[in-house]
Amino acid sequence: MEKIYDVLVVGELNVDLILDEIEKFPEVGKEVLAHKMTLTLGSSSAIFASNISSLGARVAFIGKIGKDKFGEVVLESLEKNNVDVSMVKIDEELGTGATIILNVEEDRANTTYPGAMDVLSINDISEEDIKKAKHLHFSSYFLQPGMWGDLGKLFRMAKKLGLTTSFDMQWDPAETWKLDTADVLPGVDVFLPNENELMYLTGKNNLNDAINAVKEYTNVLVIKRGNKGSQVFHQDKLMDLPPFLNKDVVDAIGAGDSFNAGFIYKFIKGADISQCQEFGNLTGAVSTTAAGGTTAFTNYENFRKTAKERFGVSL
Ligand SMILES: Nc1ncnc2c1ncn2[C@@H]1O[C@H](COP(=O)(O)OP(=O)(O)OP(=O)(O)O)[C@@H](O)[C@H]1O
Ligand SMILES: [Mg+2]
Repeated sequence: MEKIYDVLVVGELNVDLILDEIEKFPEVGKEVLAHKMTLTLGSSSAIFASNISSLGARVAFIGKIGKDKFGEVVLESLEKNNVDVSMVKIDEELGTGATIILNVEEDRANTTYPGAMDVLSINDISEEDIKKAKHLHFSSYFLQPGMWGDLGKLFRMAKKLGLTTSFDMQWDPAETWKLDTADVLPGVDVFLPNENELMYLTGKNNLNDAINAVKEYTNVLVIKRGNKGSQVFHQDKLMDLPPFLNKDVVDAIGAGDSFNAGFIYKFIKGADISQCQEFGNLTGAVSTTAAGGTTAFTNYENFRKTAKERFGVSL
């Protein structure tokens, strides 16, 4: 079968409603004013999909939204970045997920309504759909209870159909870190946690012990470390790579998803793991030069220019 997509992303979809310039946090029973509001595409999976599409991959998405205005915002934003949304499912009963973000100076308070994100399940993903892609990426496990217990099965299905796979589990809001690593990770070619997430997942308080706890199950283990760059553990070797340091960070929203986009873009092209890591560090750094997770990647030219001007990298 002809592969019509380079990457199929399976994951959560929601909008972010960001309220800025609020004088103080609201108290129950009172009201405050925000002087700025932005409605934008949220969710780790969608930021990854948009940004890897901007880098040049052909991308499709499977996720769930409601039949409502926020769902339209999600679809329009993905389509604007050339992500194929024809496999996105509409739930007639639940609304589209939304995170309301209250920004007060350096602090923020978030409230999320998961809505249709809660009910995406393995039954929404068919072999026919998976077969259309060369690579499967799954993100935000803990935000999608409908997938709990079935993720290993999804990755095994993808591997059986000849795809390569990647996984970013992201933070667990419940902090219980219930993921069956022995079941899930052997089906994953590239596992992409950040360092805190890996330590919480394994219950270890240093990175070395955390790596040792999962290495028997992983193929390429990529550890994102914010402004310390990244480490990759692969074939019994640990590769530590300092960041393309940005001392003037606008915000770090989506830096991890942008890192994933760069790493996986090179990976699906068959690049060496060290080249994937370097490009991931670059796309992560570029993400921190603009507000939100996708602004620095509105198109390839934008990204190329920032890479050159801010980090001296010619592409
Ligand atoms: N200040 C910075 N300067 C340069 N590069 C950075 C900076 N912050 C992050 N990066 C790059 O982005 C990568 C991913 O960032 P981070 O470790 O914050 O991911 P994450 O915690 O998964 O983020 P997310 O909140 O998007 O899930 C880092 O490994 C690094 O390469
Ligand atoms: Mg992350």
